Amino acid sequence: MKKTIAFLPLLILLVAFKPADTQPAPPEIPADVQSLLDKYGCAACHAMSRKLVGPMWTDVAAKKYSAKRIAQLVAKPEPANWPGYVPMVAQKVPKEDMNKIAKWLVNLK
Ligand code: HEC
Repeated sequence: MKKTIAFLPLLILLVAFKPADTQPAPPEIPADVQSLLDKYGCAACHAMSRKLVGPMWTDVAAKKYSAKRIAQLVAKPEPANWPGYVPMVAQKVPKEDMNKIAKWLVNLK
């Protein structure tokens, strides 16, 4: 009986501090990628898990493009891929930076 009472506070603590059943947090954008998205203005129209002017990054990632194809589509958008959106204006991003963004998108789940 004494033992049970000793365990009671522990039990209460465990229940009280159980992590809340929240929605899984959206994946974070690595700082180096985020700075590129800011630098080239992508962040004005694209967000991780919220539709802005452009589709959210997770929706773009769901298209399972290759990095090469992503670079192509940014340089020469094909609005037919996104019915219901205004067409994206072609973006000029230096190759190296574009590769970084594209690689990140390819690996985004
Ligand atoms: C002025 C708003 C705007 C800006 C700035 C912008 N986008 Fe977009 N983006 C869109 C819209 C709208 C679409 C969907 C329509 C389309 O593809 O034409 C889109 C689509 C895309 C797609 C999917 C292409 C496809 O065909 O599936 C990629 C990838 C993308 N954007 C990347 C970028 C990157 C990288 C940048 C920054 C260099 C950027 N966007 C800047 C509005 C924007």
